[in-house]
Amino acid sequence: MSRSVDLQEAQERVEELRRLINYHNYQYHALDAPEISDGEYDALFNELRALEEAHPELASPDSPTQRVGSAAQSGFTPVTHRIPMLSLANAFSPDQLNAWYGRVRNLLGRDVEGFVLEPKLDGLAVSLLYEDRRLKVGATRGDGTVGDDTTPNVRTIRTVPLTLSEDAPNLLEVRGEVYLSRAAFKRINDERAANGEPLFMNPRNSAAGSLRQLDSRVTARRPLDFVAYAIGLWEGKDLPRRQWELLESLRQFGFKVNPRNSYARSIDDVAQRCLDWEHERESLDYDIDGVVVKIDDRAVHDELGSVGREPRWAIAYKFPPTQATTILRDIGINVGRTGSLNPFAILEPVQVAGVTIKLASLHNEEDIARKDIRIGDTVIVQRAGEVIPQVIGPVITRRTGAERPFHMPTSCPVCGAPVVKPEGEAMARCTGGATCPAQRYEQIRHFASKPAMDIDGFGEKLTAAVIEAGLVREPADIYALSQDQLASLERLADKSAANLVASIEGSKSRPLSRVIHALGIRYVGERTSEILAEQFGTMDALLAASEEELVATEGIGPKIGHSIFEFLRSGRTRGIIEGLRAAGVKMVQARGQAVELPLTGTTWVLTGRLEKWTRLAAEERIKALGGRIADNVTRQSTHVVVGEDPGSKLRRAQQLGTTILDEVAFDAQLAKASGPPENETAS
Ligand code: IVH
Repeated sequence: MSRSVDLQEAQERVEELRRLINYHNYQYHALDAPEISDGEYDALFNELRALEEAHPELASPDSPTQRVGSAAQSGFTPVTHRIPMLSLANAFSPDQLNAWYGRVRNLLGRDVEGFVLEPKLDGLAVSLLYEDRRLKVGATRGDGTVGDDTTPNVRTIRTVPLTLSEDAPNLLEVRGEVYLSRAAFKRINDERAANGEPLFMNPRNSAAGSLRQLDSRVTARRPLDFVAYAIGLWEGKDLPRRQWELLESLRQFGFKVNPRNSYARSIDDVAQRCLDWEHERESLDYDIDGVVVKIDDRAVHDELGSVGREPRWAIAYKFPPTQATTILRDIGINVGRTGSLNPFAILEPVQVAGVTIKLASLHNEEDIARKDIRIGDTVIVQRAGEVIPQVIGPVITRRTGAERPFHMPTSCPVCGAPVVKPEGEAMARCTGGATCPAQRYEQIRHFASKPAMDIDGFGEKLTAAVIEAGLVREPADIYALSQDQLASLERLADKSAANLVASIEGSKSRPLSRVIHALGIRYVGERTSEILAEQFGTMDALLAASEEELVATEGIGPKIGHSIFEFLRSGRTRGIIEGLRAAGVKMVQARGQAVELPLTGTTWVLTGRLEKWTRLAAEERIKALGGRIADNVTRQSTHVVVGEDPGSKLRRAQQLGTTILDEVAFDAQLAKASGPPENETAS
């Protein structure tokens, strides 16, 4: 074979591979619908890289192998945007949204129908210039007129197409947002913390920092993402007449367009959707700070024009901010059930998203140290959704010099016992064990709680009262409580005392899994308790298990196995269990004894939001029919139920070829497995 034939073959294959890789990149990153496994993708990629290495003359800057970045530059060259990059006016309430629409209607002298709603990603705006469908320049927005040329960095972003499909115009400037997912943001910060580098405050700063790297190889290692939402230049092809069509075209050219964009007919619909988004935003895996509302008809855009930098045809509906700054007055300590010392922030009260915040979570001592949070600091606090408010970090520039670093106490603030911090663990612990009232309180409360022994009426107040009155020291003491004793406690009416005695009595026949959970073994939650109960059947069998036997159980790793073993062999635990046995607590698992249930042998993973089912109800139902629930998709999984906004689990299931059910199919399976409804009369 002559050398030129060789080269020609290589060239054909290189082109083929680039086309394939670009296609699968687009399916995976832009459409979230991969068609091949990661392994198959890697094989294509490696083949291309090998061919390009063997034939350097075939190299091209547009090749997908070139997303790795290049050596540091000395600075960024300014880029003038031929068409300025605009910003947006804000609306902070439905009223302000209506006021915007009122102005639009006045100017036009008629009503407008049709709006596009786009989640307002909290990243940074960039402009991508394509000539002859090849990426030429990627620039930041800058001040809207002049930005920085960050082409080498932009090229490393997987969702920025390096070449466009045939139907794209000859000259095209696409605008959109570069951003990082919350998970990626967290990963970057964890890495920075490990390297002793200062942390990024939020995904936006982190995305901006990642893009503005002089060394694009650093950018290449950050999982930046890009969504397209607007255009600047467009030449050589008719312009779409509507924003919705424009987004569709951009998707066809090869861009990722946000799949959560939506269309609304009237301004009332728009307002309702914006309110809905305030809650729905939690379901996204990236941060948004509002919703961009655009009039769909692009002819109306020209008619309305802009005021200064702000177009009249669009507006940003902004959510109430979820962050605020305040003073960290002090750091308090909570002693947990297993003795962990949990520091928490005592704050100068501050309003965040309509709620006054006085306390916030601080994780652990290491976290405080690595974020360099000091008592007296001005700190950024964040309240997102239903989660406990968190201290993000200090505002270093507001330091006065009077701030004090925090140190974990060396003795328990509740019982005075020495505090230890075992090697390799993040949490400091009180060694007081059962003698520490704080630990005892948490243990008893956990024992009686709903997911454990589920003793109705035995909440925080009663737990505190019975411990204070000296009536309860260990869980078994609960079963010795008389109606008279309970009635003598303050604020407990006779009737509730009688009810309580009944619910205490009822808890004696809880299944073994709940008793195990109620013991409060470290790392052992509801699911692991169920696994143990299934595997061992009785408390005695569990107590007799060796560490090896525990670890040999599917779903129990060495760390958990060790924790269970150590816990169960301690004298105190044995005492507690004997006490419970003597009190009449049954501690056996009613197993599906020999009865094959319809879903026996199946393992299910749920991902995304279901409409008709809560997560818990769906899981209970599957378990009741004999199925197992798992957290992650593995080769053992047999079914994956996919709701709205599924996570990476869907992709994994697709890769593994696991049966995937949507909610309708899931309902149908359950109905089939459950058999005909019991009360149904044959017709
Ligand atoms: S359109 C014509 N659409 O918001 C108006 N902007 O304050 C130009 N942003 O700098 C922007 N998501 O960084 C538009 N779907 C979206 C957006 C969006 C986020 C950001 C963008 C811009 C800022 C405007």
